[in-house]
Amino acid sequence: MSCFPCCKSEVESPSFRGCSKKVSKGRRTFKSLAAAMSLKTGSSRHRQITEEILKYGTAKNDVKIFTYQELIDATNNFSSDCLVGEGGFGNVYKGYMKSIEQNVAVKTLNREGNQGTREFFAEVLMLSMVNHPNLVKLLGYCVEDDHRVLVYEYMANGSLENHLLDLDKDKEPLDWETRMKIADGAARGLEYLHNSADPPVIFRDFKSSNILLDENFNAKLSDFGLAKIAPKEGENLVTTRVMGTYGYCSPEYAATGKLTSKTDIYSFGVVFLEIITGRRVIDTAREPEERNLIDWAQPMFKDRTKFTQMADPLLKEKFPQKGLFQALAVAAMCLQEDYETRPDMDDVVEALEQITVKKSEEKDKAGESSKSSKTAGHAESFRSQKSVGTERA
Ligand SMILES: Nc1ncnc2c1ncn2[C@@H]1O[C@H](COP(=O)(O)OP(=O)(O)OP(=O)(O)O)[C@@H](O)[C@H]1O
Ligand SMILES: [Mg+2]
Repeated sequence: MSCFPCCKSEVESPSFRGCSKKVSKGRRTFKSLAAAMSLKTGSSRHRQITEEILKYGTAKNDVKIFTYQELIDATNNFSSDCLVGEGGFGNVYKGYMKSIEQNVAVKTLNREGNQGTREFFAEVLMLSMVNHPNLVKLLGYCVEDDHRVLVYEYMANGSLENHLLDLDKDKEPLDWETRMKIADGAARGLEYLHNSADPPVIFRDFKSSNILLDENFNAKLSDFGLAKIAPKEGENLVTTRVMGTYGYCSPEYAATGKLTSKTDIYSFGVVFLEIITGRRVIDTAREPEERNLIDWAQPMFKDRTKFTQMADPLLKEKFPQKGLFQALAVAAMCLQEDYETRPDMDDVVEALEQITVKKSEEKDKAGESSKSSKTAGHAESFRSQKSVGTERA
């Protein structure tokens, strides 16, 4: 899926200029850094990366430098047999890296692509500073001549998009329990970035192709090239260009460039709705009124009798009705237009915990769904609710 560099052209506001003057050590953008790094070579560049990491926070990962020859060896000279995906950044290959004795995913920067050197270094810096089971691990990188390559842990089940929206005919669709497990893992990854990472991070490109799945369908977030260090309390972060992916981007960010952690919460709501419905957020192959998932879902959120119709037909009605209602309520809360009324990520994690725990603890009885009016109320009050943080689904 393509990345759109601007859903609205350059947004530059007085608050941006005011803010940039006050930018403190560790709160800078990556722009000047990336430009400077492009001019450096070999070990001096690596030293600079290490120094920059220390300015932003502390390095939490031992990110290695690989030679280009090692990558050629690992991927059988970037053979098409090893190609596992293609994104806006470039191609992704599966390989085996002898020096660390493990399978890896090798992502090559396509210099003609939309995303570039800034994203490359942002990815290296961000992934050096974070460490969580629900974030993909960057094992190393290669900067040699014109080559820019990132090396990650290999995720055996590819992306959520592969399993949910681009499902091969011979593959089984994800069952309800696995879907909730994936949502829970992805939510924990975001929650870590917002609340525990130091400094806190806004992910900015949360979408199903950036949620990778290991052999046990544990979810890990990938692609930090667009991630931003979150503004301090009271500071405003207005980006000069609105970056993200069409459909997943929150309305206020698309309109004004004002970036807060609530932008990620909206994107989480979009992905969670994709998980529940099996529908892509923008699907031009559908009837006009169904092409935009959010527009399609809005009236249905207000009508409890429509909730079961929203579930992915590939689930073949194998889901707990109460769990479905609760999941829809969480999605509706995250998708509220007024960004201040969206829940925080820790609220979402707690709500999802209840959905997954309840699912395994009790066999959902058909009659129970009618009692879950509190949950239904959440969905019905979509876009009007003022306080959502205290009531749980
Ligand atoms: N660490 C990994 N392990 C296994 N497969 C991966 C890994 N990283 C990426 N892939 C595969 O490569 C595909 C392309 O990933 P990539 O991040 O380059 O692009 P994208 O997320 O599809 O689009 P965009 O460029 O807009 O982010 C993914 O959808 C996934 O199938
Ligand atoms: Mg990606």
